[in-house]
Amino acid sequence: MDKRPIGIFDSGLGGLTAVHELMTLMPGEHIIYLGDSANMPYGEKTHEQIVEMSRRDMKFLLSRGVKVIFVACGTATSNALYVLRDESPVPVFGVVEAAVNEALEATRNGRVGLLATRASVAAGTFENMLKRRDPKLLVHAKACPKFATMVEDGIFEKDDERVVAAAEEYLPCLRDAGVDTVILGCTHYPLLADVISEYMGEGVVLISSGAAAARELANYLRENGMQNDNGNGRTEFFTTGDTAAFADKASLMIRRDISSELTLIEPFDKA
Ligand code: DGL
Repeated sequence: MDKRPIGIFDSGLGGLTAVHELMTLMPGEHIIYLGDSANMPYGEKTHEQIVEMSRRDMKFLLSRGVKVIFVACGTATSNALYVLRDESPVPVFGVVEAAVNEALEATRNGRVGLLATRASVAAGTFENMLKRRDPKLLVHAKACPKFATMVEDGIFEKDDERVVAAAEEYLPCLRDAGVDTVILGCTHYPLLADVISEYMGEGVVLISSGAAAARELANYLRENGMQNDNGNGRTEFFTTGDTAAFADKASLMIRRDISSELTLIEPFDKA
């Protein structure tokens, strides 16, 4: 039993897809979530900038006495996980490995698609890990620079013409390649699962990287006696961006009103 909180960060709202899964699996946990919305999208930043922003996010969470850091962001995991692991006094989890494991289990034809941000695809972390685990695998990676910002702006309904246009721009290459499994390598993308699923067709399995990593973290905590079973789970949310917008969209993802648990903090680069 370890009553210290779990620290989770993302560039914005995407990591809440992981928080939702974690709250379901581990209802007793105290979760502290940081969405660095002022600096979103991380996916359009350089590797060095992503490392720097991720360090600041981690430092903020560590200052609150967390027992683990959960990087609920594909971009930060792809670019900064090993730096964070080196520098952290507590274990650091990312989303890449758990998503890769689930994709390897799911694929039947050995063709796996990856949808992620530009900086994640450029880093090659998902792709390299997939190929290392199974050298015969055919991996088709596609950067989707518009997707995360659209979700952050609340645009994800499958009939919205902007959503349909973006899907038609990004998905044909994966459909033509005949992939049977698609990793949603950015934690914002599960909100677009309806449109992606409809476009890719029945039988194509979508892997939510955030939810996969939440399951992996829950197992780790249980196996290491680090879970919090006191039954009084609670959540605290922090954002560097607009609180009203964050609370509004977060409630769609967490499925309850979080405004009383949300605090605005200074963007780290201005603090
Ligand atoms: N949610 C982040 C990820 O998983 C990306 C969004 C962004 O570009 O900031 O990659």
